[in-house]
Amino acid sequence: MKAAVVREFGRPPEYGIFEDPEAGPGETLVTVSAAAVSTIVRSRASGAHYSSDTPPPFVPGIDGVGMTAAGRRVYFLSPRSPFGSLAERSVVASDDWVRLPDDLDDTTAAAAANAGLSCWVPLTQHARIRSGESVLINGATGVSGRMAVQVAKYLGARKVIATGRTESKFAALRDLGADVVVSLGQPADALRDAVRREARDGRVGVVLDYLWGPSAEAILAGLGGPDAPRGPERVRYVQVGNLAGPTITLAAAPLRSSGVEILGSGIGSSSRAEIMTGIRDFLNAFTRAGFRISIDLRPLSEVERAWAERDGDRRLVFAVG
Ligand SMILES: NC(=O)c1ccc[n+]([C@@H]2O[C@H](COP(=O)([O-])OP(=O)(O)OC[C@H]3O[C@@H](n4cnc5c(N)ncnc54)[C@H](OP(=O)(O)O)[C@@H]3O)[C@@H](O)[C@H]2O)c1
Repeated sequence: MKAAVVREFGRPPEYGIFEDPEAGPGETLVTVSAAAVSTIVRSRASGAHYSSDTPPPFVPGIDGVGMTAAGRRVYFLSPRSPFGSLAERSVVASDDWVRLPDDLDDTTAAAAANAGLSCWVPLTQHARIRSGESVLINGATGVSGRMAVQVAKYLGARKVIATGRTESKFAALRDLGADVVVSLGQPADALRDAVRREARDGRVGVVLDYLWGPSAEAILAGLGGPDAPRGPERVRYVQVGNLAGPTITLAAAPLRSSGVEILGSGIGSSSRAEIMTGIRDFLNAFTRAGFRISIDLRPLSEVERAWAERDGDRRLVFAVG
């Protein structure tokens, strides 16, 4: 079959021929129509991601959209290695797909699912967002962060506070529903104080953090302090990505002076059933909620060139077949 093939870690995949998958017991074969290149796909193709488990050659792509042999239009996740989603056919465990709603097209579903996973699952399952809480999204300028702004509002956030480093992207965040945008291009103390002001003006109940690193330290400091709100309410700080650094220095004081609890959302922090339920609910809500995502749609034959032309504002999606 035709496929994108990673032949060497760190090099863009080539468009070529790869063996066809066959479905074993408990598996479903999917004829792929669209598959996205999200951050984790690039990371696994480079061999750097913590979940990388297959040496080259392999087909990249952790998820996609397509048709099963029974004629169901589905979103699928986690193809069996070495078969990824960037190929004409893929194979997944039979409980690793969900039917797509009729009101959502293949390309949009493929583009949005990973971004939805990054926010719908932590907000509904880990943080269990309550209507009327404020949500802070650290690193909101990316595809996932912009989706998180919309999802937080849809799930009832009273106020969404977004952070980002690129000021030219702040207007777009406001357009998507962010009530406040805080620049990361300020000294740590100023960032801490900006977070502190927002946290006091209507309690921040949830933080979704796509960055980690120094801004996470400043935000945690801002959530704590002598005048932090007291009481039984907890601030659920959910670690989702670490684009700004793999570690932080965790000071003791913010934890003792606040109701902050640190959680994580990613592969391994939820059961597969919980993840699939979260993705299904997100995709079912997508059109009704009016969620928006910018897409760079290419034919799979252009995989090598498109892979190198990285566009941070749009999700790269390949049309397959
Ligand atoms: N745990 C999960 O379930 C899950 C699911 C999906 C994604 N993720 C993770 O979430 C993160 C974001 O993914 P994405 O799909 O949104 O990626 P993306 O579309 O490539 O966006 C990345 C954004 O991060 C910003 N950024 C990068 N380094 C930064 C830094 N040092 N300081 C401030 N901003 C920085 C960029 O800012 P500029 O726009 O200013 O360049 C860009 O807008 C990744 O780490 C990804 O692996 C996790």
